[in-house]
Amino acid sequence: MFDNFPLWPARASTTAGNVDALYIFLVVLSTFMSVAIFVMILAFAAKYRRRPGHAAEQIEGSTILEITWSVIPFGVFVVIFVWGAVIFFQERTPPRGATEIYVVAKQWMWKLEHEEGHREINELHVPVGRDVKMILTSQDVIHSFYVPAFRIKQDVVPGRYTTAWFRPTRPGTYHLFCAEYCGTQHSGMIGQVVVLEPSQYEAWLSGGGTTGSLASTGQALFQQLGCSTCHRSDTQGRGPNLAGTFGKPVLLDDGQTVIEDENYIRESILNPSAKIVSGFKPIMPPFQGIVSEEQLNALVAYIKSLNQNPSGAAGSPTLLPAGTQPQAPKVQ
Ligand code: CUA
Repeated sequence: MFDNFPLWPARASTTAGNVDALYIFLVVLSTFMSVAIFVMILAFAAKYRRRPGHAAEQIEGSTILEITWSVIPFGVFVVIFVWGAVIFFQERTPPRGATEIYVVAKQWMWKLEHEEGHREINELHVPVGRDVKMILTSQDVIHSFYVPAFRIKQDVVPGRYTTAWFRPTRPGTYHLFCAEYCGTQHSGMIGQVVVLEPSQYEAWLSGGGTTGSLASTGQALFQQLGCSTCHRSDTQGRGPNLAGTFGKPVLLDDGQTVIEDENYIRESILNPSAKIVSGFKPIMPPFQGIVSEEQLNALVAYIKSLNQNPSGAAGSPTLLPAGTQPQAPKVQ
């Protein structure tokens, strides 16, 4: 009956049902309260209307009544808050081992890169039932990655990475929108997410041409840009050994500790002097304006890949503590 007038977009991710359940709860609760209030206004207006022989009288406060009408709404709001927070944290926390897709937004298109090296524009192919983590950035203004069927909407901000994740539950083709006004062609910044059966997805993967995985592209760049001359896989480099460091704490020269995530790697490439690893000199040149967003993604993917197959066994598994690292440049 409502085929041409759907109240909800398709539910095609694991979180869609949870979001809708909370939404329906809020709508039902609000409707119930609104109807109750309006009915009572009308009923009391009729009951206490002005009549001969009835005079208004002052009613003093009732503590029991006031506690009741404070505690019950408080309980209801706590339920809404906790329920919302649980869904929020689910949506904010990508599961371990999720397939990673790098998304670069620009006026006015979506560029998507798979770990395997496949690149797509305004179209994303993913297999059903697999967790997909997106690492998003913009090369110009703020955009927003919005897939109603997955109930995800994530701002895409220039100069940093944001993340979002979903697990598609139903094969199909779903709308992708930009949900942040980003210029004259904003309304045309649309695309689609194609959810395939795993076998179809494998076929799709093997069909498209690729020049190697994102990590291998990053590895080539790492050599080409000369990163490998200082970030060596032993302890003799002038820069930290990066093998196996992703996701681990890094001790900085000001005594602070930060977790090495995508944004840390990004900053360390573009503006290396922002955070200096303890025991090293600020000698690395900034790569701001030298590497594109796509190249940056490849470098990030490469450094992350060193966790699975660290090429240097000699290095300390983390950048902590500083004592295991060389204290100063050996040459020059
Ligand atoms: Cu991009 Cu609106």
